[in-house]
Amino acid sequence: MAKIFITGSADGLGLLAAKALVKQGHEVVLHARSEIRGQEALQQAPGAKEVLIADLSDIEEVKALAAKANALGTFDAVIHNAGVYQASAQQLLHVNTLAPYSLTALMHRPQRLIYLSSGMHLSGQPDWTERPSYSDTKLHMLMLAKALARKWPEVYANAVDPGWVPTKMGGKGAPDNLQKGYETQVWLATSDDQATQVSGQYFHHQQQARYNHAAYDVTAQDHLLAECARLTGVAF
Ligand SMILES: NC(=O)c1ccc[n+]([C@@H]2O[C@H](COP(=O)([O-])OP(=O)(O)OC[C@H]3O[C@@H](n4cnc5c(N)ncnc54)[C@H](OP(=O)(O)O)[C@@H]3O)[C@@H](O)[C@H]2O)c1
Repeated sequence: MAKIFITGSADGLGLLAAKALVKQGHEVVLHARSEIRGQEALQQAPGAKEVLIADLSDIEEVKALAAKANALGTFDAVIHNAGVYQASAQQLLHVNTLAPYSLTALMHRPQRLIYLSSGMHLSGQPDWTERPSYSDTKLHMLMLAKALARKWPEVYANAVDPGWVPTKMGGKGAPDNLQKGYETQVWLATSDDQATQVSGQYFHHQQQARYNHAAYDVTAQDHLLAECARLTGVAF
């Protein structure tokens, strides 16, 4: 049994991954933005151990979330799933980039880290900006996984493109397979399959996939970490 923390697990892919992991017998800790959403998450994913609350757009709440998670011990895997799409540049920066960065830096180091990226990262720009597009923030997740592959060689840190799937974010008409949209995260978090024992890779439907080669740029990766540290006050 593995112990797994999933951000943004009151809805969408995070909730579906949580339910699948509970069904497999794992210990799952949920996360939601508010007490109300937290109660809803626990109702939706019966069997989950508990839910931690934090609005990820607030740096202080993110820091408090890391402390609450650390009070539960060390997780085997953390799925950095929470994200926003149609949101201000400020929200995109905070929820999609700074929150996963800060939680990664502050939480006890797990064996496996999974970051939700997107096929849209292909049009993301690696140059740092405090007003990122959604695509930029999803490129950041791959850059973070690649930086961790260099800096924390004992950890498996990977990014996932779930496909364009019908969640609140994806919309009802999204063409891709919803089940395949969360299976890869579940697999990377728990499987003994050799294919999961890698780091700094980008997966789609349990296969390594083509990605933006800008993510290879070590200088840009380190600049991303430095800017995240400057904006959050959280040292890597
Ligand atoms: N769906 C797609 O087609 C697609 C494609 C590519 C990548 N992705 C990525 O997959 C991940 C999951 O997406 P999804 O489709 O499952 O989206 P979703 O249905 O909109 O769910 C996103 C989750 O993140 C939470 N969240 C958002 N802002 C938050 C905040 N400030 N504080 C705390 N929690 C917050 C949401 O909470 P509430 O429910 O309370 O709002 C929700 O639980 C995202 O990172 C997304 O970028 C999705």
